Amino acid sequence: MIGLKNMKKKIKILIIGAGYVGMSLAILLGQKNIVRIVDTNKKTVDLINSGKSPIKDDFLINFWIKNKIKIKASNKMHSFVKDSDFVIISTPTNYSEEKNCHHKRLKG
Ligand SMILES: NC(=O)c1ccc[n+]([C@@H]2O[C@H](COP(=O)([O-])OP(=O)(O)OC[C@H]3O[C@@H](n4cnc5c(N)ncnc54)[C@H](O)[C@@H]3O)[C@@H](O)[C@H]2O)c1
Repeated sequence: MIGLKNMKKKIKILIIGAGYVGMSLAILLGQKNIVRIVDTNKKTVDLINSGKSPIKDDFLINFWIKNKIKIKASNKMHSFVKDSDFVIISTPTNYSEEKNCHHKRLKG
């Protein structure tokens, strides 16, 4: 648990899944924190690392560029997970009629 005293320093946030939810959170939280993002899609990772958005959203892209927000991406979870204060999972939710809901994709 992070105390108020530590909130003054930049928090390291790992976001898993660089889709519409993950990228929006990365840009929002990246204004004041250190944000890293992990995605299984290599093309997505390469786009983010070259400063390009994997999702279509002009407002988000302009905000990202205008505010010079730094986001580092990887397709290797272990490269960031141990060194993060918070982890946010924003991968697709697999819905199963039988099991109601499961998260098989997280194993990927
Ligand atoms: N988009 C919305 O408006 C919205 C609203 C409410 C809830 N949600 C929920 O939020 C979650 C994310 O939605 P989204 O729209 O951002 O999805 P998305 O399909 O746009 O993005 C998901 C990303 O996760 C990546 N991914 C898949 N499996 C992965 C894994 N095992 N490890 C790392 N990355 C992985 C994919 O490559 C993709 O880039 C879903 O569970 C969705 O149901 C979305």
